[in-house]
Order: sequence, then structure tokens, then C-alpha cells
Amino acid sequence: MASLNKAMEDHKATHDLFLQWAEEYGPLFRINILHYVAIWPTDPESVKKYMMSPDYPKDPNTYERLFNLFGKRFWGKGLLTDPDHQHWYKQRRIMDPAFSHTYLMQMVGVFNEKAEELMGQLEEKADGKQHVSMHSLINRVTLDVITKVAFGMDLGLVEGNKTPFPEAISTVLKGMLKYIQNPFMQFMPQHWAFVKEVQKSADLLRKTGQECIMQRKLAMLNGEELPKDILTKILQVAEKEDGLDDDIMLDNFITFFIAGQETTANQLSFTVMELTRQPEITQRLREEIDDIIGFKT
Ligand code: HEM
Repeated sequence: MASLNKAMEDHKATHDLFLQWAEEYGPLFRINILHYVAIWPTDPESVKKYMMSPDYPKDPNTYERLFNLFGKRFWGKGLLTDPDHQHWYKQRRIMDPAFSHTYLMQMVGVFNEKAEELMGQLEEKADGKQHVSMHSLINRVTLDVITKVAFGMDLGLVEGNKTPFPEAISTVLKGMLKYIQNPFMQFMPQHWAFVKEVQKSADLLRKTGQECIMQRKLAMLNGEELPKDILTKILQVAEKEDGLDDDIMLDNFITFFIAGQETTANQLSFTVMELTRQPEITQRLREEIDDIIGFKT
């Protein structure tokens, strides 16, 4: 734990340390924090074992802390933070069909359309003179994709629309990190301005979710044609099972909105960065894509 703290204080990437430990100690290692032991699975088999088995439920000390953000329900008891294994399992039964390969395949059109838009933007900017923030563009494209395929929303961020959502996500994530380090921050006047910003962003995201879910339920009740997205599927499956609490549904809106965007954007940004550093791998990747998908004219 001491070396982890030191890495954080020095603003180093803690993941480099995790990688180093995995290489040194094997794919499953543990971190001792006083009497507390955290297990770090880094290979697919142990990830599956420790994430799925009822013998290793989510640790309440860690996940219950994320229920609120500065005094208000935020991640709540969505899939990510639900420490009650049985309840989590019930949620998985309702959510999993929306993430099945067959259902997601119907959404490939959205992924392609948004990727084309991104390429269009890059072509316009690629004059050899302009600097482009790839991370910011990728953040936009991933948010456009997740909000469309999950909730049928058209944010149009890649096209240049201005919405408060990218900033709101970044603010709540910063808030979450600080909140975990110091849950009493909201009672310290020197932090009030920051806490207020975080609460405002959290409110915006939850209100957006509430509105989106309510409208979809209304459309279902009125027998309207529904978008083929993740929300529709979840609500349809939930109706067949014995339902899903409105608050939990909203917790999952937040979970998909944030966990589905930030992770993917970081992953893609780092991939692009590494590819520019390693031309021989870029070449192999290009060959593999051409081989599998073929040339596109
Ligand atoms: C490259 C992209 C992604 C990465 C690296 C990633 C990473 C992770 C990790 C490490 C966890 C485990 C967290 C924990 O238990 O503390 C997790 C869980 C989760 N992620 Fe992702 N994720 C990605 C994409 C997504 C997307 C696109 C979505 C949703 C649309 C999503 C939704 C979730 C959910 C709901 C959970 C909780 C699952 C459960 O316990 O049942 N993630 N993700």
C-alpha cells in the first residue's frame, strides 16, 4: 500500500505499478491495507471467477461508499455498485439480454455512422498544421455512441453540438475521486465551490436519466414504436420478470452513461497513442483489418 500511495503522490500511473506486480507475482496478486486485503485479478480466468462467484461478493466498504456523491444518491445500487450478490444477480438477468451479441449487432450501424463522422472531422483538420486533441474527439464520439445505443439520445457531439454532458461526466469523476479520499469534504468551507459544481453535474445527469426513462415508459404504455436500444430491451425484460425499481433503473442509467463512456474513450485514446508510436504494429493492424473486413472504397 505504501508504494501505491507513493505512486499516487508522485502523479505516476498506478496501473504501471499493477502491471509490474502482475509480471513479478503472477496474474493474481493481493494488496494489504492494514487488516484489509484487496485481490487484483489480471487474467480472464480469475477476473471471471472473482467477479461472478457468490463466494466473492462486491466489497460493501468500497462499493457502498459510492452509493452517494457528497450526500446525494449517485451510483446507487446499479450493477457496478450493488454489493448484495443475489440482488446483483437479479439485475444481471434483466440487463444481460440487452448486451447479448445478437442484440448489439443491430446497433453496429450507429457505431459505423459515428466512426464515419469522426473520420470526416479528422479529414477536414488533417492539413499538417492544426493540432487536434484526439482524446477530446474520442470522448465526443464515445458519448455520442453510448447515449444513442443505450438511450436513443442524439447528442451530435462529433458534429460540433455543444452539450453540458462531457464536462458533467468529467466533473463527477473528479468529484468521485476526491469524495473517496475525503468523504467529509462537503463540510469544509474551502471545498464548497468544488462540491457545488460536482453536485450540479450529478443533478444534471440524474435528471436527464429520470426524464429519459420516464418518456420511454410512457411510450411503452402508449404502444408507440420504440427505438431498438439498450433501454428498451431492459424495460421489456424487466416487465416480464418481476420489475425493476425506478431508482435502481436510474442508477444503471448513470452507470452506463459514465462507465460506458469514460472507459471506452480512454482505451481508444491510448490505443491511438500507442499505434502512432509503433508503426510496425499499426501496419499489422491495418493488414488484419483489410484481411477480415476487406478494402472499403
Ligand atoms: C474499454 C472499455 C471498458 C473498460 C476498460 C471497462 C472496465 C470495467 C471494469 C474494470 C469493471 C469492474 C469494476 C468493478 O467491479 O469495480 C467494469 C464493470 C462494469 N462496466 Fe465496464 N468497462 C468498459 C466498457 C463498458 C461499457 C461500454 C459499459 C456499458 C455500456 C460498461 C458497463 C459496466 C458495468 C454495468 C459494470 C458492472 C458489471 C457488473 O458488476 O455486473 N463498461 N467495467
